[in-house]
Amino acid sequence: MSGNEIREKYLKFMEQNGHAVIPSSALVPENDPTTLFTGSGMQPLIPYLMGEKHPKGTRLTDSQKCFRANDIEEVGDNRHTTFFEMLGNWSLGDYFKKDQLRWFFTFLVDEAKLDPSRIYVTVFAGDEALGIPRDDESVAIWQDLFAERGVEAKAVHIGSEEDGYDVGMQGGRIFYYDAAKNWWSRSGKPEVMPIGEIGGPDSEVFYDFGPEHATHPDFKDKQPHPNSDSGQFLEIGNSVFIEYIKKEDGSFAKLPQSNVDFGGGLERIAAAENSDPDVFKVDLLWKVVEQIESLSGKKYDDDLVAFRVITDHIRGAVFMIGDGVFPANDQQGYFVRRLLRRAVRYADQLGVPAGELKNLAESVIHTYETHYRNLSDKKDNIIDTIAREEEQFRRTLEKGLKELEKLSAKDSISGEDAFVLFTTYGFPFELTEEIVKGRGLSIDRDSFAAKMTEHQELSRSGAEQKFKGGLADHSEKVVQYHTATHLMLAGLRKYLGKDIHQAGSNITGERLRFDFTYGDRVERDTLDKVEEFVNSAIKTGGDVTIEMLQKTTAESDPTIEGSFWDRYPDEVKVYTMTGRNGEVFSRELCGGPHVEKLEDITGTFKIVKEESSSAGVRRVKAILE
Ligand code: ALA
Repeated sequence: MSGNEIREKYLKFMEQNGHAVIPSSALVPENDPTTLFTGSGMQPLIPYLMGEKHPKGTRLTDSQKCFRANDIEEVGDNRHTTFFEMLGNWSLGDYFKKDQLRWFFTFLVDEAKLDPSRIYVTVFAGDEALGIPRDDESVAIWQDLFAERGVEAKAVHIGSEEDGYDVGMQGGRIFYYDAAKNWWSRSGKPEVMPIGEIGGPDSEVFYDFGPEHATHPDFKDKQPHPNSDSGQFLEIGNSVFIEYIKKEDGSFAKLPQSNVDFGGGLERIAAAENSDPDVFKVDLLWKVVEQIESLSGKKYDDDLVAFRVITDHIRGAVFMIGDGVFPANDQQGYFVRRLLRRAVRYADQLGVPAGELKNLAESVIHTYETHYRNLSDKKDNIIDTIAREEEQFRRTLEKGLKELEKLSAKDSISGEDAFVLFTTYGFPFELTEEIVKGRGLSIDRDSFAAKMTEHQELSRSGAEQKFKGGLADHSEKVVQYHTATHLMLAGLRKYLGKDIHQAGSNITGERLRFDFTYGDRVERDTLDKVEEFVNSAIKTGGDVTIEMLQKTTAESDPTIEGSFWDRYPDEVKVYTMTGRNGEVFSRELCGGPHVEKLEDITGTFKIVKEESSSAGVRRVKAILE
């Protein structure tokens, strides 16, 4: 089966089991300040896992585009990719363990035709300190499922993180692991979860490729076990039972509903089906590999790392640009630039002729466009952007080479010189080293490495922590400010005209800051009228309602305001604020969250500052006093 077929089969299977198929959200999360990218299927659904009603009901399924920026440097082995698709299904307080585990197992065995005797599963061993019990319920369900297929399924304990999980397989099929392995939240195990974060025990499914694949050097003298990096097993799906939220005192409370959050990597399931753990051999990626082979005249096995980096990075860049993220020096765009620059370097290493990245991009688009229509709609834009970025980077590389010529007049190249060549001209250390050594000069590798580590730590924490706009959190006050922001934009559009759109926003529990497109100073008079509009809407009171619409329908409806249409999926959410008197105050494309009733906004709305933000963009600051 091709990757595309597996995706369609899974969605269909879930649909037959009562799930609504929802579109993938964009790679850039909306109103979620905690991460730059969508890194798992559940991320766009957090408000619903916490109790908000989803317009499509309590059973949802999708294939979510994901990007994990921290994995950029990991790409090169047979399983890491920055971009991937996560097949997902969710129960929002509907079904629970029994249905979930049965459906996924049935899908793997009957639809994807995997051999059940190659499937191993893990469950949560419980945690006394947290007061969360051992998941014997899942064990009993798994034992029934394996028994039905004639597979013996003994449950064994694998120990804990401290003792290294080194007791081996023990003839087991079902493995109890501690919270370090069998608890899932966006941020990881229970101790490191921030307050207000949701998560829970999980049950993971692993595919056994056979002991001949346990080739990881760390496992020469150690016993592989399912959830280890030995290379023998690959995790192909994870059912998380999201029932808990972390409280201020560090303990866990039960959520109002018991949820299932399932995620399974599409390429990994396809790899299991291929009986080959290399995800790059899956057709979705292999087509690009083959194209690189023909452009470079080299074979995949000649330089696995280079082939994998180029393939992964081109695909990642195509999907990012398709979601409206363009190469830049900061924020999300920085990662697109990094992907493309790394791809150029590795393409050079393989001897791929200059200017070919755009053709690789075209083949990625061709592979995915039946499911991701935004890629074919934006094909020209994506290809032009990639071609331009490659050209520009090549010019920078040339300048760097000249700079290096100048430096070569010295006896040795310092770590600092090499670092500047890297950060300013994108010159990788290995390239600098090669050229410098070719001239009989020395280069200080250690001081370069020290500078790099410092730089990477800075950029990593920058990427993780930067308050990138949107909402500071989902606390009650922030949500009130968010709804007030919609009313304010409607007021601005009412008094200043329909050319006003949002250019950026940043909302905390203390104030809102909002940028909008307008060429002139806004008079105090007008600001007063906008304040009056917002305050009277709050006073009138009324409902905030959500509709799901086709993006094309919403975009052509003049009553619906939206900025950044590019970043939204084919089906979009529109929030409408209607007064008790029937007057529609605001209709706007948005991911939420918002208050349910306008009168839930407490305080008097005041615009306290108006200033220029950049050319053609004004900035206001407002408070609820
Ligand atoms: N959210 C879970 C994961 O990413 C399913 O593994």
